[in-house]
Amino acid sequence: MPKPTVFGRYLLLDRIAYGGMAEVFRGKQFGEEGFDRIIAIKRVLPAVADNDQFLAMFRDEANITRTLQHGNIAQVYDFGKLDGRYYLAMEYVSGLDLKAYFTACEKVGKPMDPAIAALIVREVALGLGYAHRATDSAGSSLGLIHRDVSPQNILLSWQGEVKLVDFGIAKARQKTQRTDAGVLKGKFGYMSPEQVRGLPLSNRSDLFSLGTVFWELLTGHRAFDRETDYETMDAVRAVDLPPFEQAAQAIPKALQDICLKALSKDEEERYARAEHMARDITRWLSAQDEQTSQLELSTALTETFASQHQAERKLLASYERYGASMVETQIRSAGAERETPAVQVGVSQNRQHVPAQRAATPAPTAPLTPTPSAVRMREPAPTLAPPNASRGPAVIATLAAILTVAIGWQAWMWWSTRPGSLQISAMPARVKVFVNSELMGETKPAPDGRGSLLIGEIPYGEVTVLLEADGHSSLTEKINIRPAQTFAWQPNLPQEALPDAQIELRVTPQEALVTFGEDEHKLEDGQVALILGDGDKKDLYVRANNYRPYRQTVGPLKPGSRSKIDVALVMERWNLEVVPEPADARVKLTSTGLATIAGKGAQTLRGLQPKASVQVSVSRSRCRRYRRRITNQGAGQQTLKVTLRCR
Ligand SMILES: Nc1ncnc2c1ncn2[C@@H]1O[C@H](COP(=O)(O)OP(=O)(O)O)[C@@H](O)[C@H]1O
Ligand SMILES: [Mg+2]
Repeated sequence: MPKPTVFGRYLLLDRIAYGGMAEVFRGKQFGEEGFDRIIAIKRVLPAVADNDQFLAMFRDEANITRTLQHGNIAQVYDFGKLDGRYYLAMEYVSGLDLKAYFTACEKVGKPMDPAIAALIVREVALGLGYAHRATDSAGSSLGLIHRDVSPQNILLSWQGEVKLVDFGIAKARQKTQRTDAGVLKGKFGYMSPEQVRGLPLSNRSDLFSLGTVFWELLTGHRAFDRETDYETMDAVRAVDLPPFEQAAQAIPKALQDICLKALSKDEEERYARAEHMARDITRWLSAQDEQTSQLELSTALTETFASQHQAERKLLASYERYGASMVETQIRSAGAERETPAVQVGVSQNRQHVPAQRAATPAPTAPLTPTPSAVRMREPAPTLAPPNASRGPAVIATLAAILTVAIGWQAWMWWSTRPGSLQISAMPARVKVFVNSELMGETKPAPDGRGSLLIGEIPYGEVTVLLEADGHSSLTEKINIRPAQTFAWQPNLPQEALPDAQIELRVTPQEALVTFGEDEHKLEDGQVALILGDGDKKDLYVRANNYRPYRQTVGPLKPGSRSKIDVALVMERWNLEVVPEPADARVKLTSTGLATIAGKGAQTLRGLQPKASVQVSVSRSRCRRYRRRITNQGAGQQTLKVTLRCR
């Protein structure tokens, strides 16, 4: 049984994965009144703790992921630095990663059920789509790209949930000034062709990677993995894949198509958005006789990995006995020496009471003794240096108790009637804070991107706290302040929806068809009003018979702005229609290209060159014959009414 170690206000239980730069632990977080939960803690390895480029990446990962809240992305709760090492605390996904599942299928030589594969890929696509659309607190798009979509970074919970992790090399558009030219990060076998070339990436690069994952799940084989990195990159560049027919199982045609569309060499031919890919998969899934959902994925996992499932359950149950006291003693006694404040910032809405710092007793820093996982070691374990001799938490607790007795009853009374304080760490970074309608100040942007404010000397009892920020809905909360304690609150103010941008589109010719994004629009008098959501980009496509089609990408536009777009299509061909009066007259049309059409009543000659002219002849007995040469007047459709003079 691994022995837990105190890590700030968390307990590290055991290590679940170990990579070149960071290690991931199971941990425990504590709240009030016995509340606790298992979390995952990703921590920078000592070896890279002073590698600036890597630390910048780790901070980026924290910064990017802290705002992401989606069922298909493991939620990040907290980011901090302790004992000189950065860490991320996040939602623990109890289960295994997709790589383990794939490998298990590979071992028995039977690829995953296509419907299960489709379900997993659909869920990842939904998470990716959300990340791609993510905005900063001011509402402008982050242009986020994950860049490392691969089976190891896709986690499957025993419950059948699918969650994307590891935004370690994800990049937001704003971050492009960081110099990493020439550095290829990620796994070559899951990169997109543009990624192995080191070209700028769009969200469609992630879709290619997801396509690769899909291909592997469907066929049961690695897609681009070759003997050397060089050959692997070559295979990616050429999208060199054997046909689906060679796979060990029959793969539904619709899924093949979806997969290959994501794997298009040309970015333009891939899905424009992850949601479109998800939608196509959903359509296929729901057309099947047997439904596949979380339940089926859960069953498949717990059956395939029955013993591992049992073992993890047992392990987690054994961790139930570790309580908050192990950590609290440490926090109280560590006091002033901690690098992270006693009250920590986080992104969850959870509120926690954290005991205020007392006059600091000297802090024994807890040496960490990472222990290899009993259940799943996702990476090979390194050899561990023997831990330093440590004074255990129990010793500290005893010291604290002795101290309390020494301070005495009077001191305790004084202590317990002292006012409390409120520590706010808010999102967005600038928030006005009112306590019982009185303005107490504004939060100041902190390094973690949130804004913090400490309000001391609040009389204990219930207070009403109101938060206000530009562009956000305000938030009111009743908070019970306890004597001499700091109440830590990490509110996120919901963003006010920004108004759509409006576009007035005018088109000639008036019969043109307009597509904006996915939607068809009808013109009225050659005009139509279009709207574009904040941060959005859409393709405008205008076409009409005999005209050259027109295409333009519109956006992103300023929220609430109004703009005009005029589109005059260029005519490439024209039609001439001749309508006689009386209606039974004979019409004969002959073009310069010598195409002829003749008959009783109205006639149309189609597809004429712009410069072509047409000899028109209209005749009827007892009427005067009409003859004229007609040229194009600028429209793709030209109609001529001819009224004969008759006796
Ligand atoms: N939130 C989590 N819950 C459970 N396991 C996780 C979690 N995050 C990561 N892991 C495990 O740790 C591995 C490494 O984590 P990751 O964030 O991908 O780090 P790295 O940058 O080293 O790839 C993952 O492949 C997964 O097996
Ligand atoms: Mg990873």
